[in-house]
Amino acid sequence: MLLLIRQNINTNEDKSITNIDVLALRKNLQKDYFGTANTLSSSRHSWDILEQIEEAVSTTHSKQDLIKSYSNTIRKCEYESKEIVLKRRSAQMMNKDDSKISKNQFETLLASTLTKEDNPVNLVLFVHNVENLEEGLYVLLGNSNDENDENDLKSCLKDTFVWEKVQSKVDNLYFLQAGDFKYTAKTISCNQDIASNSAFSLGMLVQFDKQIQKYGAHRYKELYWNCGAIGQQLYLEATSLDLSATGIGCFLDDIFHEVLGIKNTSYQSLYHFTIGRGLFDTRLTNEEPYQN
Ligand SMILES: Cc1cc2nc3c(=O)[nH]c(=O)nc-3n(C[C@H](O)[C@H](O)[C@H](O)COP(=O)(O)O)c2cc1C
Repeated sequence: MLLLIRQNINTNEDKSITNIDVLALRKNLQKDYFGTANTLSSSRHSWDILEQIEEAVSTTHSKQDLIKSYSNTIRKCEYESKEIVLKRRSAQMMNKDDSKISKNQFETLLASTLTKEDNPVNLVLFVHNVENLEEGLYVLLGNSNDENDENDLKSCLKDTFVWEKVQSKVDNLYFLQAGDFKYTAKTISCNQDIASNSAFSLGMLVQFDKQIQKYGAHRYKELYWNCGAIGQQLYLEATSLDLSATGIGCFLDDIFHEVLGIKNTSYQSLYHFTIGRGLFDTRLTNEEPYQN
């Protein structure tokens, strides 16, 4: 199945999921299912690798390097934070028939993630439907205090990328490659439609080896915290613009890295995200949060 996915991705076209040969996959499965599903174990089972990771990353961390504040440079304060926080929900479906957002909304969202502090998280963007912006692959550089970061990233990514600076209210936004990346984005996101039916989706690509070497193993989880903070910021900014967002923790990092041409661990993708116009799922009960 992975091979089929890779073959389809390489053609870089928007294809439907029917290209995966489900019949062939099912051929060796028995027609009827017999047996009893395992029940959840009532006792604790240790999983050594998790404890080893916890041990490796639990030394004192460098809090001063974590993202603490955001400085949205292109937006006036219009709402009370409480109003937005209480409204924030993850979209479970995106409306592909009404996915277009304005360039100003796109820029406002991106600007909201930029910080004055050191931020080694770059946003690799699959732009599907943003007014006055060509469909394709873009990157918004983070604000790394490593002056070689930009060159390192350039040399790590495919040399066919054009790296054209985009005329934008947001600094450091580059156009890499034109094309319809909906199928690619969906495939990378464990086949979730929310990644392709949105206005854009993105992967958070962080400088990895250098960060671990410089700060120690605990930097591994701090990089996740930074990505999580950017994700929460995007959730709130999208809500304030009457758009919808969803964090995507289910993604195929190896395929994403392959699409970008990354062949080592100098840069790694730690979290993905999608923003568009959500559709309400009427099968679900929706109640006001924090009623009591
Ligand atoms: C780190 C993270 C990863 C997530 N990954 C996915 C995902 O891959 N697919 C998805 O549909 N939702 C994903 N979500 C959204 C969660 O399903 C959602 O946050 C959760 O159901 C709670 O709903 P709420 O965000 O509306 O409060 C993710 C959320 C977070 C914070």
